Amino acid sequence: MNLELSNIGVTVADGEATLDILHELDLRVDAGEVVAIVGESGSGKSTLVATTGLLRAPTTGSVAINGQAVNDGSLSNKEIARLRHAEIGLVFQSANLFPSLTAMEQLELVAHLDGSLNADARARAADLLERVGMSHRASQRPGRLSGGERQRVALARALMNRPSLVLADEPTASLDASRGREIMALLAESGRESGAATVIVTHAPEQLAHCDRVLRLEGGRLRDALIPADV
Ligand SMILES: Nc1ncnc2c1ncn2[C@@H]1O[C@H](COP(=O)(O)OP(=O)(O)OP(=O)(O)O)[C@@H](O)[C@H]1O
Ligand SMILES: [Mg+2]
Repeated sequence: MNLELSNIGVTVADGEATLDILHELDLRVDAGEVVAIVGESGSGKSTLVATTGLLRAPTTGSVAINGQAVNDGSLSNKEIARLRHAEIGLVFQSANLFPSLTAMEQLELVAHLDGSLNADARARAADLLERVGMSHRASQRPGRLSGGERQRVALARALMNRPSLVLADEPTASLDASRGREIMALLAESGRESGAATVIVTHAPEQLAHCDRVLRLEGGRLRDALIPADV
């Protein structure tokens, strides 16, 4: 699965004027490739993730997943939502877990929603919790977990449906450095293993070693960044 953004523009109203958050932005990420995005606060990284994750439509340009244009009007909103559920794993700065579900149930819900909650799915959920170091907390609800533990569950949940595109917006912001590195390693490893195209927004230079390419968002566009001094 690959991702291709061409000539993407996102323009919003800013009082009387308009603000070009993204401007003539191009990005191609191949299957199994892990790309890091860096950039100053307010440079548009979260806007880029939301656009790529089909959570917001760009003002101009095209988003194509595996060669299929997503925003050219050929897909209904329902089809876009289905595509998002089937193909995209999203991890945000905060975990956004359901308060009433245990860690295990957060993952099982993903399979339940597409009617595939069987013994295999339960085993996969257990395996993913193990990989993020959360097996021992599997039966706890989010209220009893630390911020970092919640984030690890959110990452495991994002990988549950075997997404072909993984988007993470500062996934390690609430973790200490060593947990942060572990999570980055897991994201990169699972992306390469499964052939997912992976895009990770991060501020932490020590985590960039896990990525194949580092791009800097500046002036609404992406450009190659050097590792790590340029970050
Ligand atoms: N819906 C909106 N309406 C108006 N302005 C917006 C909207 N969404 C984002 N912005 C502005 O666009 C710019 C980019 O925001 P964005 O959240 O994408 O930045 P970011 O790079 O993720 O920053 P951070 O590192 O702080 O998370 C900011 O100046 C923000 O205030
Ligand atoms: Mg952001």
